[in-house]
This record gives sequence, structure tokens and C-alpha cells, in this order.
Amino acid sequence: MRVVVGADRHGSIDRAVRFLGIGRADIVVVPADDEGRMLPDQLEPALGESEEPLIVCLQAGEVHTGAFDDVAALIPIAHDRGAWVHVDGAFGLWAATSPRLRHLTAGMEAADSWATDAHKTLNVPYDCGMAIVRDPADSIAALRTGGDYLVYTGLDPWDVTPELSRRARGVPAWAALRSLGRAGVAELIERLHDNAVAMAEGLAQIDGIELLHEVGYTQVMFRMPSDEQTTALGAAILAEGTAVVTGAQWRGRAALRCAMSSWATSPADIERTLAAIRSLAAA
Ligand SMILES: Cc1ncc(COP(=O)(O)O)c(C=O)c1O
Repeated sequence: MRVVVGADRHGSIDRAVRFLGIGRADIVVVPADDEGRMLPDQLEPALGESEEPLIVCLQAGEVHTGAFDDVAALIPIAHDRGAWVHVDGAFGLWAATSPRLRHLTAGMEAADSWATDAHKTLNVPYDCGMAIVRDPADSIAALRTGGDYLVYTGLDPWDVTPELSRRARGVPAWAALRSLGRAGVAELIERLHDNAVAMAEGLAQIDGIELLHEVGYTQVMFRMPSDEQTTALGAAILAEGTAVVTGAQWRGRAALRCAMSSWATSPADIERTLAAIRSLAAA
């Protein structure tokens, strides 16, 4: 079996491949563009000619740039070769709820499985990860377990998770969805995006700061003229305490990264953060 991934996949894909015993040697890496999207014209050659089963892992939301793979172009290429297509949408799959941002996920419905986290964008407590499989028969084939004392109803909790016993993680996720409703979830996601755009616009006006990508979703990455200045600014922001901005490496250079993910962050918080960064960058 080979697992075909983008160069800027999340590290959890490699870890899952190791857990599953497939082995790192069977990971095939497809190059990505400047913002971390898998290059569609590079997928077909990566799939190769062999008859081995293939899993293609695509990404909805790159952790630094928020970029989405062009799934509408990529999924048909993978399916033509009989591959299983999985989409890692840890925080990005939620874009599908917003009429304004839905275009980012266009074509994603053709995948075979998707993963997302309610504990990220939906803001429920850790841990509420979700794996969604198109055909329940696939999930049952992988996970169903035996036990004459178990009561089977057709599709049971052990058919959809590795655990036989687990706490009711679905309750907080259900409660958030139930209380927000479809419109409320969309509004939450759009607020995160609005905050990211406001942050990017404000950062672009600060002397010395360079934005590293188009802001299409919730992530904003930037840097100063030198790596030393970028690292120093990151440390100063954390010490000053208005906001948490984490350090990153992007294409071999130091960067700083804001990930909008809290429902509670307001436009005023963005203004306060920008004011703090402005004075720290000047210093
Ligand atoms: C794109 C992406 N995939 C996977 C993960 C891993 O998710 P978790 O932390 O719930 O294991 C993350 C976490 O940051 C992520 O951003």
C-alpha cells in the first residue's frame, strides 16, 4: 500500500501511517505550491503504475497559510487510479458551512473519508475529533468487533471508533451544533475569517512586516526582514502578553503565525493585538 501526501501535510498523517504499520517508506510526497497546496499536475506521476492499493491524503487548511488543496482537480485524478481519497480538514472542513467561504471546499464531497476537529474551529473542549467515512460498510469492515454480550443494532458505536468503551465526546459537539444552528456555525466561521483579514490588513501596514500568503481563511503568517528580527518579535509578543502568536518555519525561514480560532476574539482584540505588534516591531 502507498500513501500519497502533499509536501505540506500535517505531521499527524505520517504518525498515523506509522501507527498503522504501513511504514514511512511507503509515503509518497507530492510537491506543493508556495502556499502549501498539492500541485495537481504532480499527482498523477506520484501515483505511479503499480497495482498496490493507494490512499491519497488531501488537505483542507494548511496550518501556516490556511490554503486548501484544489480537491476538485485532485480527486478525479486519484479516483481514476482507484485510490481512496481522504481529506484532512482538521480546521478547514468547517469552511463548507459558510456561503462566503464554501468555494474553498468545492469538490470535497467526492472524497471517500474526511477528518475534522470539533475542538478546533467549533470551539468545543478537547478532544472531539471526527472521522467521517462515505460508506458505513467500510467503517464496519475496519472496526466491527465481536462479543455475544453486545447488543447490535446495525451501526453501533464500536463500528465507528477504535474504542469499545469511550466517554460521550459526541455530546459537547452535538450541543454546540444544536445551539448555534446552521446559521450560527457559518457566522462563527465567518467571524474567524473576518478577524484574519483584519489582522492581515493591519500587519501589512506595519513597517518591516511582510505577509507571506493571501489570507483566504483563518491563518495569517508574516515575518520581519531578517530571521533574527522575526524570532525576536515573536518572543516580544509572547512576553508582552496581549496575544499568542506562535513561531514557525516557512520555506527555510523564520515566520510568525496567527491562527484565528476562538469564538471570543473580537475586532477590538485584533486592534489591540495590532497596536501591540506595531509598537514591538518599531522597538
Ligand atoms: C491540518 C491538521 N491536521 C491534523 C491535526 C491534528 O489534530 P489533533 O490535534 O486533533 O490530533 C491538526 C492539528 O493542529 C491540523 O491542524
